[in-house]
Amino acid sequence: MQAAAQAVELLDPGRAARFRLEPTGHLGLVEDGNSPADLSWNPLRGWQGHATEPAAQALLDLYLPISSATAGRPITIAHLGQSLDGFIATPSGDSSFVTGPENILHLHRLRALCDAVVVGAGTVRADNPRLTTRLVAGRNPARIILDPTCRLSPRLSVFSDGQADTLRVCVAGKSVACGAPAVGESLLEVPAGDAGLDLAELMKALRARGYRRVLIEGGGVTVSSFLQAGLIDRLHIAVAPMLIGEGRPAVRLPPQGRLQDCLRLRHRIYQSGNDILFDCDLRSPVDTGFASSLRPGSVQRVL
Ligand SMILES: NC(=O)c1ccc[n+]([C@@H]2O[C@H](COP(=O)([O-])OP(=O)(O)OC[C@H]3O[C@@H](n4cnc5c(N)ncnc54)[C@H](OP(=O)(O)O)[C@@H]3O)[C@@H](O)[C@H]2O)c1
Repeated sequence: MQAAAQAVELLDPGRAARFRLEPTGHLGLVEDGNSPADLSWNPLRGWQGHATEPAAQALLDLYLPISSATAGRPITIAHLGQSLDGFIATPSGDSSFVTGPENILHLHRLRALCDAVVVGAGTVRADNPRLTTRLVAGRNPARIILDPTCRLSPRLSVFSDGQADTLRVCVAGKSVACGAPAVGESLLEVPAGDAGLDLAELMKALRARGYRRVLIEGGGVTVSSFLQAGLIDRLHIAVAPMLIGEGRPAVRLPPQGRLQDCLRLRHRIYQSGNDILFDCDLRSPVDTGFASSLRPGSVQRVL
């Protein structure tokens, strides 16, 4: 959190700098080049962690890419928690909970690191979520609700609990159907695109409001439409060891005839409780990821 704030507010964008983590949890500047540092800032690449504990380094690897966002290098990250067979909820919309408590904590950390969290109308309708950071320290992100034809009830929590700013996004010309916005709620009209809202225009509007770190939290339709529009920089998919059988799908993209035209993602793998978290970087050249360090034909037990 400190690193994220520092990247945006305190750092001279042109200068490298090194920091140690103080017992208070704050970052202290390390002026002497020979003294050890826990974190270093590179204006071109962002944050790098130098933890000696593997568990601490894993946390830095997972969260520093998000904390490295600046006005010139914003980030959009999507997260889904899915079953082994690729579903995020049952057909009736029950998704409490596909993944375990550690992944829910991870999701709250992502919210705390981000300026804004985007969810689709289906999620708001099914879950009535608050989208707050109540499990961790850090402020609540602004809530961006994709409600293209203003069908969601104003009584839902995001429009009525006053816990954070809420922006209801609808297709141009449809905001009249939303009625008067509640306190803390505002409306944004976005032009229609091929698949509903023009998401590139939406992202431009969010960046113009100063939202450098944006979390797309679901559901599957929403994450898929951002992916299809090429607007995701990082994709976190937590896979839970359960089978739902049939239900609301996770990522669904238009069919491809050839596997070589499908997205193969550069990734890191983390264990998060009983779930496996894939952290996929959609902006770096593809490699074979984790397997590339193994001898051909070998396997390695990781957990
Ligand atoms: N496991 C998880 O990680 C997770 C996370 C979030 C939600 N969930 C669960 O997933 C289910 C909901 O997911 P879902 O995939 O069915 O729905 P969703 O993505 O939450 O919402 C889809 C709706 O959002 C609007 N929308 C999204 N993208 C749009 C675009 N590009 N243009 C215009 N409108 C857009 C549309 O609203 P209209 O219908 O009004 O047109 C669309 O039908 C719920 O059961 C929820 O509990 C699970």
